Amino acid sequence: MKKFSDAYWNAHYQSGTMGWDVGYVSTPLKNYFDSIKEREIKILIPGAGNAYEVSYLFEKGFRHVNLLDFAPESIVNFKKRQASFPEKQIFCEDFFDHKGSYDLIIEQTFMCSLPPDKRPAYTEKMHQLLKPSGRLLGLLFNHHFEFEGPPYGGTAEEYRKLFEKLFIIEQMEVSKDSIKPRRNRELFFKLLKS
Ligand SMILES: C[S@@+](CC[C@H](N)C(=O)[O-])C[C@H]1O[C@@H](n2cnc3c(N)ncnc32)[C@H](O)[C@@H]1O
Repeated sequence: MKKFSDAYWNAHYQSGTMGWDVGYVSTPLKNYFDSIKEREIKILIPGAGNAYEVSYLFEKGFRHVNLLDFAPESIVNFKKRQASFPEKQIFCEDFFDHKGSYDLIIEQTFMCSLPPDKRPAYTEKMHQLLKPSGRLLGLLFNHHFEFEGPPYGGTAEEYRKLFEKLFIIEQMEVSKDSIKPRRNRELFFKLLKS
């Protein structure tokens, strides 16, 4: 099975080997979501996996939250928990093929799951999917891993170089409210489409 393929990721969900899966909405994202006043914004969570963040937002009244993942089994898991979630807001497809226009896109352990040479394409695709003045925000590992990924990490400097061509970097700092296993190991970042 080809590494990085949908079948590769789907097999992880089928076998339950999901080291990245927090099991609930991660604290930094929850705290950010709690600060958003405008409930009508259109949100995308790509590479959402079991999508606890989608559940959280939807239950809080963000009716226009959209889930994208190309591993069907992750979507089966999500639907078991969130039966009333609108089908039209679920995209089981490759992120790079997705068409849409969003106010906000959320990143969490998605970019690190892609081959590092895809990062420029990831950045361009995010830019394309955002409305004017839209934002991409979330979490990125702030270190490299000693083993061959995924996950693939990085540094604030590397991410700045990648993003600054297309975005205004509003925030990029060590996350203050990470879950314990990720404490001091991830950056909270916020990018404005320029
Ligand atoms: C490491 S997991 C993270 C899942 C979730 N964000 C979380 O924090 O639990 C990476 C996810 O990205 C999905 N993924 C990887 N490449 C993708 C692509 N090109 N298009 C859509 N989904 C992709 C995988 O299926 C997997 O669910």
